[in-house]
Order: sequence, then structure tokens, then C-alpha cells
Amino acid sequence: MQDPQLLSVEEAAILHKQLTAEIETHNAAYYQNDAPLITDAQYDELLQTLKALEKAHPELVSEQSPSQRVGAAPARGFGKVQHKVPMLSLDNAFNSEDLREFEGRVRRFLGLAPTEDVAFFAEPKIDGLSAALRYEKGEFVLGATRGDGREGEDITENLRTLKDLPTTLNPEGGSIPDVFEVRGEVYMPISDFQKLNEAQSLAGGKVFANPRNAAAGSLRQLDVSITATRNLRLFAYAWGDVSEVPGLTQAEVLQRFEAWGFSVNPLSKVCSNMEEAIDAYRKIEELRASLDYDIDGVVFKVNRLDWQERLGFVSRSPRWAIAHKFPAEKATTQVKAIEIQVGRTGALTPVARLNPVTVGGVVVSNATLHNEEEIERKDVRVGDTVVVQRAGDVIPQVVEVVLDKRPAKSTPFEFPKFCPVCGSHAVREKNPTTGKDDVVRRCTGGLVCSAQVVERLKHFVSRNAFDIDGLGAKQIELFFNRDLIRTPADIFRLEENDKNSLTRIRNFEGFGDKAVRNLFDAINDRRTIELDRFIYALGIRHIGQGNARLLARNYLTLQALLDAFEPGNPDVGKVYVDLLNIDGIGAAVADAVKEFFSEEQNRQLLNELIREIEILPFDVPDDDSPVSGKTVVFTGTLELMTRSEAKAKAENLGAKVSGSVSAKTDYLVAGAKAGSKLKKATELGVTTLTEQEWLDLIGG
Ligand code: IVH
Repeated sequence: MQDPQLLSVEEAAILHKQLTAEIETHNAAYYQNDAPLITDAQYDELLQTLKALEKAHPELVSEQSPSQRVGAAPARGFGKVQHKVPMLSLDNAFNSEDLREFEGRVRRFLGLAPTEDVAFFAEPKIDGLSAALRYEKGEFVLGATRGDGREGEDITENLRTLKDLPTTLNPEGGSIPDVFEVRGEVYMPISDFQKLNEAQSLAGGKVFANPRNAAAGSLRQLDVSITATRNLRLFAYAWGDVSEVPGLTQAEVLQRFEAWGFSVNPLSKVCSNMEEAIDAYRKIEELRASLDYDIDGVVFKVNRLDWQERLGFVSRSPRWAIAHKFPAEKATTQVKAIEIQVGRTGALTPVARLNPVTVGGVVVSNATLHNEEEIERKDVRVGDTVVVQRAGDVIPQVVEVVLDKRPAKSTPFEFPKFCPVCGSHAVREKNPTTGKDDVVRRCTGGLVCSAQVVERLKHFVSRNAFDIDGLGAKQIELFFNRDLIRTPADIFRLEENDKNSLTRIRNFEGFGDKAVRNLFDAINDRRTIELDRFIYALGIRHIGQGNARLLARNYLTLQALLDAFEPGNPDVGKVYVDLLNIDGIGAAVADAVKEFFSEEQNRQLLNELIREIEILPFDVPDDDSPVSGKTVVFTGTLELMTRSEAKAKAENLGAKVSGSVSAKTDYLVAGAKAGSKLKKATELGVTTLTEQEWLDLIGG
């Protein structure tokens, strides 16, 4: 910008308007969509320019100017907070049968006698955002969002403005542990949400789709004074990193929370058995419409904490809790078109383009039709009137066709047999175990199909994977179309290749010299990565964050995975069995892993990547555990714990549990009637332990 002093009033006003619009766009991309289009540095530059302009022309300053709203904070964003205890999600139940099955799993895991009742603590599932609140010696010192569950954002000052958050725990509520992290849900009462929207719409501001979005938008404000004006509330329901747990049951701890000064949901209650719990669900569902806050289900937690402890976790959710969701909200509308999208695994997904309709407060104009089989089963056609539903966070779905309203001349939708993007054959593979056709039709183009390649690259740089600042979905498409990035390794060669290229990135629209430098710096920042993130980034079918961690924990290094699946490895059978033996990994996942790491193209891709980046070996979670990194085999009938419990516990302590004894086995734990494995272990000189000796070794 030229010297702002030299601009005429008109020129300054026009520039001011342009800059404001530009900054607003970026604010929306960053705050509402969590998808920044420019780097923080670029954003700051825009803001500084605006401020310089306003300094020279003070008449341009208004309350609406972005310079006033962002306040003095020089950089956007909040500090990061690592969760010492991960913030997990909950498994879902959709009917009473699912709940009874959940109870059955709990019983089997704990090995309970049929006469013993399991008491559950029922709590409404609050539809808000979870937060972690750390107290040291009773003082609130740190507050964080959930983030990806392992790392959240520091929102301490925003949380301090909440009325339900005691800044000092009430000492009359009983002794206060040195460290105590309370977890709970931040929400906005429905009445406040309505008032806020009225005010926003009068002022021409953003209108929120639902109370949860309003709560999220209000909490993540860099300017804490804005948060303070929104009536945000908090229900406490769980805990994370604590030096001591003040109670023996979920109910007792929540009583303590109340005594310390927190709000605990008044509808929560102890149910002596599953039938009472199902009854509690019905009662809460009946009350739902009369509450001044949104709830989307009921959470059931095993009440006894010693049992919670034994049950532990599977991948990303606890075995001791489940959420029974309320049925989804529905609406009727018309299908304008059906389009096919190709995902990163080649799946052809039909999407219905709809006449926009409001479902549970959100405008819906697209809905997934899932796959070829679903579209056939429901016989959805263009022009049909359909029922769409939206449950919680999930993408809206087409539930059924209203046949009475079908136009006279409609024809069934013909699913393409070729990939609409690359033209390769699209097939429905046969499932090797069931012999049935897969429900999903997939493009066979693999890395030849640009849709798959682009989607994989987008996944590779996404937030929970490489998370490269300034390299999002939009930039990946651009660089892919300009032939600059074709494989993941190309990302790390971008700077080098750009030097030798005729089409320099700095000449692209939206990329100045500075932006390009920032992009390269951001890429270089990510040349080291944890193994679990790396595995997740590969976008292998069925491998989400939870499974990626399981693999990382069991294989520890990428090299170990590459070695295991080396083509021609004579131990393939054993490698596969070991994979299946990992608690939480089933056949579909094992097949996908095997397929991915055995495939030559992928191995080549990985070898190229290794040359560019450093992958940190998996940090075994419990370093000081006496069995961390050891290989353990359980055999015989265990009497002090169930087999799954023993295995889960060992894995939580960083041990690797194997199904067969070899020279690599560190411990064989032998229960009653142990047979051939015990014999083999003795022959090989492997340390054998009784159950009690094992428990003594791991300290309980
Ligand atoms: S317990 C380890 N209790 O639901 C379990 N969660 O799907 C930790 N939520 O991220 C959660 N009400 O944001 C729990 N009474 C409640 C809840 C609740 C709402 C949310 C929470 C969590 C999500 C899990």
C-alpha cells in the first residue's frame, strides 16, 4: 500500500472497505470453518495495513472494524495444550438392545457372576463442547478445548468468564487434591441462543445455526470480553489428570464436584441395573423438550470406579461408558440431482443434491446416499420427494422415498460402472469371507485416478495428520492441477522443485514472495512427525486415529511395519496372526494393513518419503512401567482376571501381547491347566509367571 497519508478520503474509504471484507473472509474461514486460507503472518500483515490506514484516517474507525474486534492481540490463535490424559469419545447405542449388549460386554470383561448387578450412572448427553479445567491446590490454572483429544487449545481466560466455573474450589466441599482436572460440557442455554441471534441479526452480524455453534463461536473468541457477554454455562461430568480421585463411584465424585462449586446436571442419577437405566433414558427423553439446553442422548457409565479402572479403554472410547443417542430429526424435500463423488479409497459415493430444507435448525442441501446398494435398496430417483435426517454431527442422510409423490415418468438411477473422474472400471469386490459383493463400488484406478490421489493428499496434510499451515485442501488442488504435487513426497520437494521450475509458485494468484516463504517454512516444520500421526496420514482404509495408534504402539517404527510385510517374507502367516492379535484390530483392518504395506507402489512411496522426513518412533505411553516394550503371552485359564482384561491392561502398560511363544517372548503368564505354551516357554528359557506374580510385577 502506498503511504496512507497520501490517499484521498474517498480512496482511503474504498481501500478500507476492501481490506475489511478480506479480513472478514479470513476470520470466517478461520473461526467458523476452522480452515484458514492464508498463514497467520499473512493475516497479520492485512491487519497491520488496516490499522495503518485507520491511523492516517481516524474517521474510518468504527465499532465494526476488524481492528477493534481483534483487539491488541498481534497473532491469531490460541496456545496449544497437551492433554495428559486423552479426551476420548463415547461409543453409541441406538436402542435398548444395544444397551443390553453393552451390559453383557461389561459383565464378560469383568467376569461377573449372573447374580451380581451392575449399577450405572445415567447423565444427559449435553450437546455442547467439552472442556478440560485444571486446578492446582484448588486454583483454576488452565482451561482447554478438546481439540483432537490429545491436544487442545488454551482457552483459560475465556473459561474464567463462565458463571458455573469456580476459580477457587470451595474447601468446605471436602479435601482438595493437589492436582485435579475437571471435565465438562460448555453450552449456551436455548433462551440465550435465541436472544443472541435476534441481537446478531439486528446488528447484521453472524446468526448461529444452533446453540452448540453459538457456544463454540462464543468460547473461541480471542477477545475475552466478547465471551463474557455471552451467557455460557458448564456441566461438570468427568475428570482427567488428577492426583487423587475423591470417591469410589461416579456418583460420589460428582457429589464432590457439586460441593466444590460446579454445576452437575440435576437429571443425573444412579440406576441399580440395566432395566432401571433404560427407564431413566425414557424419562430423560420425555423431559427433553422442556429443558432450556440441548441434549442429544443419555450417557451411561459403570458407577463403580474400580470397575471403570479395570474396564479401561478400546482405542478412542472407554469400555465402561456408552451414549444412547436420541432418534434423529427429520424433514422432507425434493432430490434435484444425484452426483457421484470419488473418495480417497476409491469409493464411489452417490450424493443427493436437494432443495434446501431446515432439519433440526440447520439448512441441508446435500445428503449422502451412502453407496450403490443403498441407492438401489431405497430406489432413490432424481425428482423424488425424500425424507432426510440429521443425527448429531453426522452428514445428513436420505432415509426413504415418499412414493406417493413420485413423478409419473421417473426412471431408476443408473449407477455408473466406470469412475466418473478417471474412467477406470469401477467394481464391487467380493468379500473373501462372506463371498458376497461389497456394498461399495470402487474405482480400480488407484494412483492413476486423480480423485483418489488428490483426496489422499488432502488427507495427508489434514489437521490430525501432517497439519501443514497454509497447505489445505484448496492449495493441494491447485498444486496438483499445476503438476507440482503428485505424491506425498513431492510436498517436501516443493521448495527444491520450485527453484528449478518455470512456473514459480510466487506468480500464482494469492501467493506473494512472503506467502511462498511461509509455506516452505511450514512444510519444513513438519519434517518430523510421530509414527501414529504418520500412519494415520497414509489414509489406509479403516485406519483412523485410534487404529493408527494401535499399530504404532505395536510396531513402534515404520521400518518394523515395512519389514513385516516385505514381499517374500516367509513368516507372512505369523505376521498376519500377530496383527489380528492386537486388541481392537479385526479382520477388515488387518486385511487393509496387509494390503497397503505389501503393495509395491505404496512401499515405493513410503521409501521416497523416508528420505524427506524423520518419523519419531512411537513413544510407549507408560515409560516407567516394568513391562513397557516387553512381549507377553497369556496361557491357560486365568482366574484373577479375564483374558481380555489381562491383555488390555498389559497393552496399556506398554507391553506387546502375543498369541504364541517364541525366543522373543519376555514373559509367559500361565494360568491353570497351561499346556504346550508353558512347555515351549520352559524349553526356550522364557521367564514364566503365575497370575499373582504377574500382578505383583505390574503393581496390582
Ligand atoms: S463422558 C471418556 N458425559 O460427549 C468419556 N460426555 O461423545 C468422556 N458429552 O466429548 C465423556 N455429555 O463432549 C460424558 N454427561 C456426559 C456428556 C458427555 C456430553 C460429550 C463430550 C464428549 C462426547 C463424547
